[in-house]
Amino acid sequence: MTQISLMDDLAEILVSEEALAERIAELGEEITNHYLGKDIEEIVVVAVTNGSIVFVADLMRKLKLHARLDCIRVSSYRDDTQPVSEPEIIDNIRLNIAGEHVLLIDDILDTGSTLQKLVSVLRAMKPASLRTCILLDKEGRRTKTYRASYSGFTIPEAFVVGYGLDFAERYRNLPCIGVLRPELQNPPEWC
Ligand code: IMP
Ligand code: MG
Repeated sequence: MTQISLMDDLAEILVSEEALAERIAELGEEITNHYLGKDIEEIVVVAVTNGSIVFVADLMRKLKLHARLDCIRVSSYRDDTQPVSEPEIIDNIRLNIAGEHVLLIDDILDTGSTLQKLVSVLRAMKPASLRTCILLDKEGRRTKTYRASYSGFTIPEAFVVGYGLDFAERYRNLPCIGVLRPELQNPPEWC
C-alpha cells in the first residue's frame, strides 16, 4: 500500500497541532466568559463553510454555553490562491437569528471582504449582538478596515493550508497549519 504524507507538501509549519489545541482552549474560555459575564447563556454559532468547519468543531466543544449551529457558504476563491470575485453567498443560514446572540466564525481574515460582507448580511437579520471569531489573521493583506472580536493567530502573508484551510479543496485534513510549497500552488508566484 502506498503511504502518503501530506506534510511533505508543506514548505513550513506555521502553527502546530499542539499550539492550535492550546489557543483554541483559551479562545473557548475567553468567549464563554464574555457571554456569561453578560448573563447570556445561549448563542448561535454561524460557521463559514467549508474553511471553518475543523476550527468550529474544536472551538464549539470548548464553549461552556448553549450553542445552536448554522452554516453559511460563501464563494470568492476559485481553485487558486487569489480571490477572483467579490464574496457571494451561495448558501444562507436557516435559523432565525433575530434577537439572538450570534458568533460568526471563519478560518482566516485576509483582505477582510468576506467577513465584512457577512457581517452586513447578518446584521440585516437583526441579531441582539454579533461578534466575530477567526482562527488566523493575515493583517498585512487587509484592504478593508475590519477587526474580528476574537483572533487565534496573526500570520505572515503566505498562502496557508491545513486544519480546514484548503488549496483547491485539498489539505483541509492536515492537523496543523502550514505554507504550501510554492511549486504546488497555482499560480506558483504567489506564496
Ligand atoms: P478575505 O475575504 O480576503 O478576507 O478572504 C477570506 C477567505 O479567503 C477565507 O475564508 C478563506 O477561505 C480564503 N483564504 C484567504 N487566505 C487564505 C489562505 O492562505 N489559505 C486558504 N484560504 C485562504
Ligand atoms: Mg473560507
